[in-house]
Amino acid sequence: MASEIEALIAGLSKPQKSIAPKYFYDETGSGLFEEITALPEYYLTSTELGIMDSYIDEIADIVGPQASLIEFGSGSSVKTRLLLEHLDKLAAYVPVDISEEHLLESQRDIRAAFPHIEVLPVVADFTHSFSLPSPATMPRRNVVYFPGSTIGNFEYHNAVDLLRVMHEEAGAGGALLIGVDLQKDPAVIHNAYNDSAGVTARFNLNMLRHLNREFGSDFELESFRHRATYDPDEGRIVIELVSTRQQTAHLGDATIFLDEGEAILTEYSHKYTLDGFAAMAGVAGFTVSKVWTDPKQWFSVQLLLRN
Ligand code: SAH
Ligand code: AVI
Repeated sequence: MASEIEALIAGLSKPQKSIAPKYFYDETGSGLFEEITALPEYYLTSTELGIMDSYIDEIADIVGPQASLIEFGSGSSVKTRLLLEHLDKLAAYVPVDISEEHLLESQRDIRAAFPHIEVLPVVADFTHSFSLPSPATMPRRNVVYFPGSTIGNFEYHNAVDLLRVMHEEAGAGGALLIGVDLQKDPAVIHNAYNDSAGVTARFNLNMLRHLNREFGSDFELESFRHRATYDPDEGRIVIELVSTRQQTAHLGDATIFLDEGEAILTEYSHKYTLDGFAAMAGVAGFTVSKVWTDPKQWFSVQLLLRN
């Protein structure tokens, strides 16, 4: 807790203030993210689900029998249901997520729907070291699943570090099945993060409510607005909370000064080229073995093998 507050203060004390995107996900934030996935503008979820649905038999064949499926950032495990239905004699399903209540509630539903599968939920921040439980049945291989293009929320070096953690967890003979959002018409990307119903704005602002509740800070939500802009040079959406007036907020023993118009960076969402992603995966020790995409090539599901 103390080190978390210190890290938050450090991020809010730099010339470019920032809060890590993991703070989106308290119970309310996880619920709002679920609403985002159903928005007409948020093409990521429907497109990825479409790809999974089209190629699930091929994916199941490649994964093979008796795998242990370890999911990073499992959320509601919606896409995972297809895998749980189709993977042969799964040894175990290990969903890992930071959003405790949401994870445990989702896994109650998963257990009810798949009573024959051993479900071993892990509440953890996957950017710090954590240990995974051992399934009762010895798996033939570990398959790490990282859907949703959550990898895109990490800057290059942190993304490589996270891929290395997954490389380690996959172990010998293991694989990584990952959802990767692709570069496309910037207007399509812009609209996905500026939805007309304002759900993404509420998701972004909820981060401050989360900090106020969990760490006793006093951010005034009414004095911030949501901003999401696409940076074509970096190939990423930049999500910020913009201060609408000059103000101060308190967190731990720090006072945070914000000018009118000053922005707190809350998230990047990188959009990749297939070559760019393959090069990054290569640095983490993976080779791209298979890429499945939708007809518009908006999103990809990729199977990565350890070199
Ligand atoms: N996999 C789902 C959810 C994606 S949203 C999908 O594809 O729709 C991102 C998920 O990652 C959320 O459930 C969030 O709680 C989780 N998450 C984000 N940062 C995390 C971290 N540092 N450690 C663990 N889980 C994290
Ligand atoms: C979880 N992650 C991949 C989402 C994204 O699209 O980058 C989070 C999100 N932020 C705003 N809308 C959705």
